[in-house]
Amino acid sequence: MARLSRTKKKELYHSIKGARDIFGDEYRLREWFIERAKHVATFYGFGPIATPHLERAELFGTTLGGTTDVVQKQMYAFRTRGGESVALRPEGTAPIMRAYIEHGMHTWPQPVLFWYAGNFFRHENPQRGRWREFYQFGLEVLGTEDPVADGLVIHVAVLMLREVGLQNVLVHLNSLGCKECRAVWRKELVAYFRKHGNALCKDCKRRLKENPLRILDCKEERCREASTNAPQSVSYLCAHCKQHFREVLEHLDDAGIAYVLDHLLVRGLDYYSRTTFEIFFEKPGESAESDNSETKTEVGTEESEKKKLLALGGGGRYDYLGEVIGSRNVPAVGMALGVDRIIPLLREHGKIPKSLQEPPKVFFVQLGTTAKRKSLHLMEELRKAKIPLAQSLSKDSLKSQLRIASRLGVFYAAILGQKEALDDTIIIRDMDSGAQETLPFVKSIEYLKSKLRGKGQPRPPEITDEEDE
Ligand code: HAM
Repeated sequence: MARLSRTKKKELYHSIKGARDIFGDEYRLREWFIERAKHVATFYGFGPIATPHLERAELFGTTLGGTTDVVQKQMYAFRTRGGESVALRPEGTAPIMRAYIEHGMHTWPQPVLFWYAGNFFRHENPQRGRWREFYQFGLEVLGTEDPVADGLVIHVAVLMLREVGLQNVLVHLNSLGCKECRAVWRKELVAYFRKHGNALCKDCKRRLKENPLRILDCKEERCREASTNAPQSVSYLCAHCKQHFREVLEHLDDAGIAYVLDHLLVRGLDYYSRTTFEIFFEKPGESAESDNSETKTEVGTEESEKKKLLALGGGGRYDYLGEVIGSRNVPAVGMALGVDRIIPLLREHGKIPKSLQEPPKVFFVQLGTTAKRKSLHLMEELRKAKIPLAQSLSKDSLKSQLRIASRLGVFYAAILGQKEALDDTIIIRDMDSGAQETLPFVKSIEYLKSKLRGKGQPRPPEITDEEDE
């Protein structure tokens, strides 16, 4: 086999651009967040759903909008060996509507409430808070147009963030209206931007023909300026949509959720109608500019980028998606939180329980072949007794194992030497005083349990560069 150059090897064995490995502290925080989010969602009546990572590419092409960046530039779509055109799911709403129709869920009591969590894929320009493989926690309410469903989704999303300590949450909100009133607004918008055509960037000149609504969330300064006086969707709402939006706002007022009306909030996916929203976290004492163009690839100046907060989540109503997928009228609303953006905030602002990183309280030391062979069995007894343990089975010397135990800050070392292994005993060493006792193994578990009761958490482990022998 041909030898690979060093650079080639490096490229080959690196995770690909925009994807990453998650382990240690980040993994634990993520699991904890998902577990808390599930807890809140379940309490409010949402049931779980998991849809495949691969779907027919057409499902997204027809529902998210053929001219959207997600479909045009970001979808990982390919042909299988069997010739089928499939895509790695860029989002979860269209697959859930597909599942609703495929499984005849309209015959279930309505509305149907789902939560979901998993990986999604978009070939975006990786940058702050933006990955090509990312993790979402989402909620969908299918089968009702009642504004209370919009209120519920936003409320539960905010509660999930508050539950983990992210209190300062601000919701940006807009209503795009139904088919009828949106058509009138769209016409006015096109007429307005035609007049300001010269002021628009190259992409927006194209958008004016294909998808004029997306001009409103272009990041280019000149397009932002041109959008300032653009016709606002809320001014064109029909009586029905106006009443719907009013009731959504009333639900948010009742729930004590802070929101601002944002007439530029059109969102990056075409299936939205009526309510659209995005959720931002404001660091205490700061109010930041929002960056609501999730699917844009342009980058602003470094300074302006830093000032902007990325949306932690977004969503809205998609009353016409059921018609597109299955010729069925399924009014629905939902949202998804970007878990990759939430985790870094938790480190600074989260209410993380101490038990999340339950540090070991006992270090298991083994000396000699017989002890080593008995170790796995004895460690299992300690696990059953719920005693958090650390060990270093591959080390042989007492000194090096005790040094690790001391660095980890455990309260006790349980030492199994050659003699103890033959006698079914174990030495329990108090790491603070150095006092040692030899006990029959069966008694040592109760002994450790009673000693550990009321000890609290050990001190954090010492991190040193010192090499163990
Ligand atoms: P979205 O706004 O595209 O909506 O994504 C929701 C959230 O996922 C964003 O606010 C962001 O936090 C996170 N997110 C999106 N793209 C990335 C990325 N490349 N890297 C990291 N995080 C990202 C949807 O996906 C809709 N399906 C939400 C929805 C549910 N609408 C109705 N129901």
